[in-house]
This record gives sequence, C-alpha cells and structure tokens, in this order.
Amino acid sequence: MPLTITVDHAPNPAAVDGQALEVRGVRAGSVAADAPGVDQALLAAAGFTAKVAQTVMVAGEGGPVLLVGLGEDVSAAPMRRVGAAIARASSAVAHVAVDVLGLLDSGDRPGAARELTEGLVLASYAFDRYKERSTDISLARATVVAGGGKRVADAIGAALRTAEAVALARDLVNTPGGDLTPRAFADVAKKSADQFGLGCEVLDKKAITREKLGGLLGVNRGSSQEPRLVKLTFEPDKPRGHVALVGKGVTFDSGGLSIKPSASMEWMKTDMAGAAAVLAVMTLVPKVAPKMKVSAYIPLTDNMLGPDATRVGDILTTRNGKTVEVLNTDAEGRLILADALALAVEDGADAIVDVATLTGACMVALGDRTAGLMSNHGELVARIMRTSEEVGEAIWHLPMPEHLRATIDSEVADLRNLSTSPYGGTLSAALFLKEFVGDVAWAHLDIAGPSNSTASYDEVTRGGTGFGVRTLAGLLATWSKLPKA
Ligand code: BES
Ligand code: MN
Ligand code: ZN
Repeated sequence: MPLTITVDHAPNPAAVDGQALEVRGVRAGSVAADAPGVDQALLAAAGFTAKVAQTVMVAGEGGPVLLVGLGEDVSAAPMRRVGAAIARASSAVAHVAVDVLGLLDSGDRPGAARELTEGLVLASYAFDRYKERSTDISLARATVVAGGGKRVADAIGAALRTAEAVALARDLVNTPGGDLTPRAFADVAKKSADQFGLGCEVLDKKAITREKLGGLLGVNRGSSQEPRLVKLTFEPDKPRGHVALVGKGVTFDSGGLSIKPSASMEWMKTDMAGAAAVLAVMTLVPKVAPKMKVSAYIPLTDNMLGPDATRVGDILTTRNGKTVEVLNTDAEGRLILADALALAVEDGADAIVDVATLTGACMVALGDRTAGLMSNHGELVARIMRTSEEVGEAIWHLPMPEHLRATIDSEVADLRNLSTSPYGGTLSAALFLKEFVGDVAWAHLDIAGPSNSTASYDEVTRGGTGFGVRTLAGLLATWSKLPKA
C-alpha cells in the first residue's frame, strides 16, 4: 500500500474536492518513452526537453497531465526545484498528486520525498496578511505519493517542519517595521518558545542598561521604540556540544543620522532577517538536534534619528568593555552584534554562528543570491559550506585580510565602526565582529543579498526568503565536537 501524504497548503475546502491533477516526471533523453501517448511534435514545439524543473501541461487520456523535467541523472538533489516547479505550474489547480516513486530512478526515496515536499510547500508561500482579498493563487493541496515506510513518512514530516520554520522567518521579514517593533518580535519569540519547548528570556531596556549592552543602547538612542534582547535556549541532558546563534535584529534601518536615501530604505524592514532566521532555526532544534545545547541571542532595535540619536563621533562602551567610535550611524549592525557576541562568549559556547544583513558591499561582491561567510575556524567553514550545498543555500567563503584590521582602529576609542578604507566593507565589518568573539570558534554569515528577493524562482518567493534556516538546521543536526582551530 503506497503511503499517501497530503500536504495541505492554504486549504480551500471548496476547491480541494476535485480530482487531482496528475504529474508525470520525464527524464531528459527519454522524453518519448516517459511521456507516451503525448504528441511529441507538440512537446518539441513547446521547447520541452525535460531539463530539471521544466514543466508543460499536456492532454492526457483522463484529463490534463503536468509533465515535469527531471534532467539527466534522477536523484534526490534536484527534487526541491522539481517540487517548486510543480507548485508554480499547477497554481490554478486545486489538487495535485505527485508520485515520488515515479519521479525517481532509484535510491534515496526519503530524500526525494523530503526535497520534493520542501519545494512544493516553500514555493507555495504567500504573504497576504495585509491584503483585503487574498491574491494567493497557489496550489491548495498536494498529495505526495511516496511508497510505504516510516523513513519516507519521517522525511515528509521533516520537510513540512522545515518549511514551516522558513515560513515563520519569511513572515517576520515581510512584516513592516512599524508593526514588527522590537517588542512585537520578542512577543513572537516568546510564543514560539512556548510552542516548541525552548527557554526564553527577554531583556527590556532597563535590563539591557543594567547588563551594559552599550552597542544596542547606542543604536536604539534615536528611537521611540524600546530595544529588546531575546535569549532562547534549548538544553538537553548531557549535550553533545553547545552552539550559540546570534541574529541581527534591526527592525527598520533608516541609517540614523547618517540617513539613507529613500530608495535604499525600501528594503530596510528586512534588516532583521538574521534574527528571523535564528528564531526559526531554534524552533527546529528540539527535533533536528535534540542532543545539542543551543543558545540564541537576538538583539532587537530599529535604527532611527530621533532628537537624542547617537551622534557621529559618539563613543559607545560595549558589553565586553571595548569602546567604539561611531563614525557612521548606518553601520549599526556590528554595534548590536558586538554585545550579543560578547554574551555568547560569556556563556561558554563551543562555537558561535552569527547571521546578519550586514553590508551592501556583500551584494556588490557576490550578487544578491549568495551569502558571504567569514570565520576564524577552517573546519567550521568546511561544515557550513558542505551543508549549504546540500540544502541549496548559496554561500561563498570570504577572507578577513590582516592588513584591513588597522582600518578599524580609532584615534580616540578601541575601534571605529567605519573602516577608513573604501574597499572590502564586508571584510572589515567581519574583522570588527571578530574583536568580540575572543578565541571561540566563530562564523559570520552576511546575508544582505539572499535574505530577500525581488523575484520568485525555484523554492524562493518574492520578499523575505528565510535564507539561512536550512543551513543552520543542517549544521546543528550533524554537529560533532570541533577540532582546535
Ligand atoms: N542593513 C545595512 C546593510 C544592507 C544594505 C542590507 C543593503 C541589505 C541591503 C547595514 O546596516 C548598512 O547600512 N551598512 C552600510 C555600512 C556602511 C555604512 C559601512 C552599507 O552597507 O552601506
Ligand atoms: Mn545600516
Ligand atoms: Zn542595517
């Protein structure tokens, strides 16, 4: 008996009851054999060559059939894109049935079911909370037919959980800064912590002042919204290791007194994408990494220019005592991360990974779909790169050149937040962060580009992407003690 899993997305009971659209996988090179009874001249005229994720709707015996290209070598890996393509191509349809077995040559059936389901659900994401009428035309229901067995069922369950976490991150990123204030974000974090069995501690402004988080306070100074520091924890008995996650949570970045031009502010409600990714990963930890102790530190503030905003030239004293001369109030991310990284070090984490929409320069260097990775630990880099490839999040390793360190020396404080060099802004930002991690293994992901997208493609939807959730989840799921750097 094949196991049939129903992936219900945006359920619309009226629409679901129809007959399911059939999906048939077609391998490149055997189009005629895989699509029997279909007019081959028609396929040729439509340019259908069965490249991965290529789709075409054709007339079958019992009604329409969606053909989807599988490429040459039919393994689990391309199934995420295949799933996404199916969701897009059948968005006018109430119910689609996808037979994973039929799509796969051999081998990794759970893997294929997992990737396919992730693709289906992630590509069907829509953010229409603010619309009077939903413009969500996505697929109402998908049935993944994947053959029996607990491993397949577990894989589909894992995919649904992952997709839900990514959707949480996307929702947060897409919510405007006027609504997603630091307090509102902290409330979401508290709710998630309750739901998923995490410890949650929220520092308000008074507690942040008491704890001497001078970077966070300095950035918050121009705002009428209080800052928050959210700490989430998951701690099993006898943990296999302790990883700390840190996420930049600037709920809106106007630039402060070093104000951005209006066009550059358009996406700045997304400047908390690192924080969103970290919160989302934490919701997965109890399931994907139940043997790990994981602590998350999420500093939250907007960056505004009220009458008492931090002035250019002001000097802030951060959590670990280092002082920073603020020479550009728009380089605010590193100021709030400095405090959060110092807290993670104090708590004795074996490794720290921070995620931040930190520099526009990273998009100049790598384009808008690839994150920059900087680290003081080679094995940690190798693990993150390996995981990112597996989950399909593009990450590129960048250096932290020693000679740029001097460009963040200040005349009057320990550090300046703006490099004296016009070059390598992503790298000098990382060198700045490095000052706050001591000798703990640390990796920094600059997600300024891939945290949001101007277009929908593959499993990515326009707006917040939830980038980083899947890589961090994978990293934690396969964690083992790191060797000395
Ligand atoms: N949040 C921005 C970085 C950013 C830019 C993210 C574009 C996504 C898209 C960050 O706070 C910032 O403003 N960085 C400055 C740094 C500069 C002042 C050293 C930048 O990139 O221009
Ligand atoms: Mn900024
Ligand atoms: Zn910013």
